Amino acid sequence: MRQAFEAVQVTDSVHWVGAIDWSVRDFHGYLTSRGTTYNAYLILADEITLIDTVKAPFVEEMLARIAAVVDPGDISYIVSDHAEMDHSGGLPATIEAVRPEKIFASALGAKALGEHFRLDHKIVAAKNGESLSLGNTSLSFVETRMLHWPDSMFSYLDDGGVLFSQDAFGMHLASSQRFADEIDQDILGYEGAKYYANILLPLSSLVTKLLQQVPELGLDINIIAPDHGPIWREDLGKILGSYAQWAEQTPTKKAVVVYDTMWQSTALMARAIGEGLRSAGAVPKLMQLRASHRSDVATEILDARALVVGSPTMNNNIFPTVADVLTYLKGLKPRNLVGAAFGSYGWSGEAVGQIEETLTEMKVDLVAASLMVKYVPDDAALAQCYALGQQVAARLNQTCDSK
Ligand code: FEO
Repeated sequence: MRQAFEAVQVTDSVHWVGAIDWSVRDFHGYLTSRGTTYNAYLILADEITLIDTVKAPFVEEMLARIAAVVDPGDISYIVSDHAEMDHSGGLPATIEAVRPEKIFASALGAKALGEHFRLDHKIVAAKNGESLSLGNTSLSFVETRMLHWPDSMFSYLDDGGVLFSQDAFGMHLASSQRFADEIDQDILGYEGAKYYANILLPLSSLVTKLLQQVPELGLDINIIAPDHGPIWREDLGKILGSYAQWAEQTPTKKAVVVYDTMWQSTALMARAIGEGLRSAGAVPKLMQLRASHRSDVATEILDARALVVGSPTMNNNIFPTVADVLTYLKGLKPRNLVGAAFGSYGWSGEAVGQIEETLTEMKVDLVAASLMVKYVPDDAALAQCYALGQQVAARLNQTCDSK
């Protein structure tokens, strides 16, 4: 087992020693169509240091990669940049195998690790801005509280200018290549955006603030080494620029029409709304929820400025898939959206009102009266749907033109 895994050299002193999870498809409700990696990094300094661990079932793989470079027992320090279990789940077994002198985390990280694992080993709370000597080089810590957990922090290694950024700038992408410049740029763009939309979107104002603070930190960053997906060693401005743009959520003419249907009536309405949107200059994207995963809807919302939601009424309620996606999107707090609600019904028709209520809670600006159709839409009803699409498009045009 041990001989099957190798480490990947990142700089003279840093090796990637993480794990590749080719088959995971569900990451707490996020569809990870391309799998993921749990990145851990070994720093070969006077005090050998491990940055983060991996999800619990992958500890042996990580230890094998470490053993390809050094005896795991030679590790002095472990730094936990993030307490979520895809990075800390392997910590108890790693402590057992390595017996490090010290383990470091942010103050809230030390608390969170204690609450997760009830460790016997004391965790040293690293202060924001504090520097830890590794002998011939040093590691400094930058708290990134709520990006995306209270405990989150970055670690920065002087030697080679490596920023270990935990989840930030990462993506769920299993690949045999370890560096972003070796991977198809379209895949990187899509998976990076999907990660941002599903993990970081609700924290966009903190992302903007952090990006503004980065120059003030005075760090000479040559490499960004996240905890998921590829390592950035070229053109760092590109991923930093993408983050700035995603955090901004600037207006575009894209409109996402999210719906589900029982007997095709709500689907017919959605298609007519889509045609109306297109005819008035918007770019519609129709997503039927039994063909589209909630995390893919979130990804499409990232650069859309209209959210139009449709549902039939089932047992006096919104259709379950629509309720699911609305709950998910509400938690992600997308900003600057306009929208509308629509749906078909047989006798009571509560679903559309329930959608309206949730969109209002999400601060979506409802630009048209909701549309309800009994049983099956006739030509007149479809014309109303078409007109609804045009109304939404008109508002999008107005918003984009005023920017
Ligand atoms: Fe990759 Fe927030 O854990």
